[in-house]
Amino acid sequence: MDETRCMVKCLERLSYFYYEESCGQCTPCREGTGWLYRMVHRIEHGQGRQEDLDKLLSVADNIAGRTICALGDAAALPVKSFITHFRDEFQHHIDHKRCLVGLARSRRRRARRRSGAAMSQMLKVEIDGRETTVPNGTMVIEAAKDLGIFIPHFCYHPKLSIAANCRMCLVQVEKAPKPLPACATPVTDGMKVFTRSDYAKQAQRG
Ligand code: SF4
Ligand code: FES
Repeated sequence: MDETRCMVKCLERLSYFYYEESCGQCTPCREGTGWLYRMVHRIEHGQGRQEDLDKLLSVADNIAGRTICALGDAAALPVKSFITHFRDEFQHHIDHKRCLVGLARSRRRRARRRSGAAMSQMLKVEIDGRETTVPNGTMVIEAAKDLGIFIPHFCYHPKLSIAANCRMCLVQVEKAPKPLPACATPVTDGMKVFTRSDYAKQAQRG
């Protein structure tokens, strides 16, 4: 399970399992598992009441340790730990009648769609007089590599996060007031880059 799972929904499934599996021999388990399931079910479906969380904990306390077999404990313990560790998610369901995780998930989906649209935009760049087209978000060093142009570098690695502290990859960019690190400079449309000009070479030497 990861952070994309709704803990209320998970507890509803678990509680239903124990409610169904209870053989009914002990009263706390027979009655309590049904109460647990029904309360979690109504919270999950937007009908939770403010007092439900405390009531759930109290019912779980009254089942644990009071039954013949371990099913009673197994039904009670998840209720206690879920509410202890994820109380805010349960509270959000009660207060807003909707899922906190579902909301976060749809926001993430929207952000992904937006960034996907932005990434699908292609940009033209000229490096040392040669033109190429790269997706939005491409760094100058990667665009140069596509063209077979080597830019000296030390701290850059495509699989690591950008540090941009060795300054070996400095290049000249038209209209930029100072040399820019190719590993940390994203391509912009129509950008002109010079990797071997005197200005660039001098910057790379430091
Ligand atoms: S605790 Fe075990 S024996 Fe008791 S009702 Fe539940 S399942 Fe049956
Ligand atoms: S490779 Fe080190 S700053 Fe770019």
